[in-house]
Amino acid sequence: MATDTDTAAVESAAWPLRVRHAHDDDVADIVALNNMFAPDGLTLYRSKAFVVSHLQDYQVVRGADGTLMGQVALDEYSPSLVELVSLAVATEAQGNGLGQRLITAAEKLARERGYPELFAISLAEPLFLRMGFQESTILRYPEKIARYQAISRSELSIGRKFCFAKKLTSIPVAG
Ligand SMILES: CC(C)(COP(=O)(O)OP(=O)(O)OC[C@H]1O[C@@H](n2cnc3c(N)ncnc32)[C@H](O)[C@@H]1OP(=O)(O)O)[C@@H](O)C(=O)NCCC(=O)NCCS
Repeated sequence: MATDTDTAAVESAAWPLRVRHAHDDDVADIVALNNMFAPDGLTLYRSKAFVVSHLQDYQVVRGADGTLMGQVALDEYSPSLVELVSLAVATEAQGNGLGQRLITAAEKLARERGYPELFAISLAEPLFLRMGFQESTILRYPEKIARYQAISRSELSIGRKFCFAKKLTSIPVAG
């Protein structure tokens, strides 16, 4: 189980909150924050069982009062392809750079795990472009299309979302 000391912590003087790996006691809040945006198609619904079984792929940030303020996860398709998923910032905390920091943390974890490419599907076009992602097309990711077909939902039909990709150079995991 990941601990606070082996995380891709992202610190900043301007916003001294810490992005860390998720723990067991984050699960209920992760599910709630993620599913808050699912009715609008911004995130995919996640069950508690799903989050528990993928907990090592989640990173979270909590406020000083313990409230879950943001989260992000990696979803592996193959050793050479991973998607940034479940990016969500609590409504009251949005617009303060937390989304950017969560993307940075997810990217860092993806590099540490040696993935050569990270992609994402999102409405937040300026945010991903600012983070060095390039516009791409979901047609490059048949694995993603197959997953949407498996849950009888087409991201293609949503139309307004964008696909972004970033090539990664791997970094060694801190010993
Ligand atoms: C997208 C999200 C994670 C950004 O979090 P955040 O903490 O507000 O992000 P930051 O403060 O780092 O950056 C804000 C930027 O995000 C972009 N953005 C956020 N929501 C957006 C949306 N719905 N459409 C387009 N751009 C959006 C804007 O460019 C904004 O930049 P601006 O402040 O210069 O206008 C947050 O808005 C959120 O949780 N949205 C609901 C869930 C979601 O859409 N998740 C993305 C799935 S990949």
